[in-house]
Amino acid sequence: MKKVEAVIPHARMQTAFSALRELDLGGLTYYESKGRGEIPTPVIHGGRGTSVFRPEFNVNVTISIVVRDPIADNVVGKILESTSTGLAGEGKIFISDIDDAVDIGSGERGEAAI
Ligand SMILES: Nc1ncnc2c1ncn2[C@@H]1O[C@H](COP(=O)(O)OP(=O)(O)OP(=O)(O)O)[C@@H](O)[C@H]1O
Ligand SMILES: [Mg+2]
Repeated sequence: MKKVEAVIPHARMQTAFSALRELDLGGLTYYESKGRGEIPTPVIHGGRGTSVFRPEFNVNVTISIVVRDPIADNVVGKILESTSTGLAGEGKIFISDIDDAVDIGSGERGEAAI
């Protein structure tokens, strides 16, 4: 099994979810996450041009999906086609191996649990 974790801008979350609905996924988890890349975060201007504030972190969304090995590339493809415009700072996708999973209700293990 593989875990595909995509850190994407909040504004692209719904298009990513729509694209992922085209795959037969067992489930997914998403959460708001904060982070930074190499490009400085945008400056926030205060009222009447007085104060200027540069937050240290961007607020992103992280989507986490555990799938059977052969599906991982399909998940990556759906996220890319729905969120990438080819620019810097559009996010990251991390792919890692998952050793095991447990369905809490049935006790089933491994791929049967996802
Ligand atoms: N190496 C990393 N490890 C963990 N999270 C990361 C990493 N790099 C980026 N991120 C996450 O992805 C978000 C977007 O970062 P991204 O790398 O896309 O922007 P960038 O570094 O400004 O531009 P780019 O790398 O595309 O030139 C960050 O805010 C952070 O949450
Ligand atoms: Mg980066």
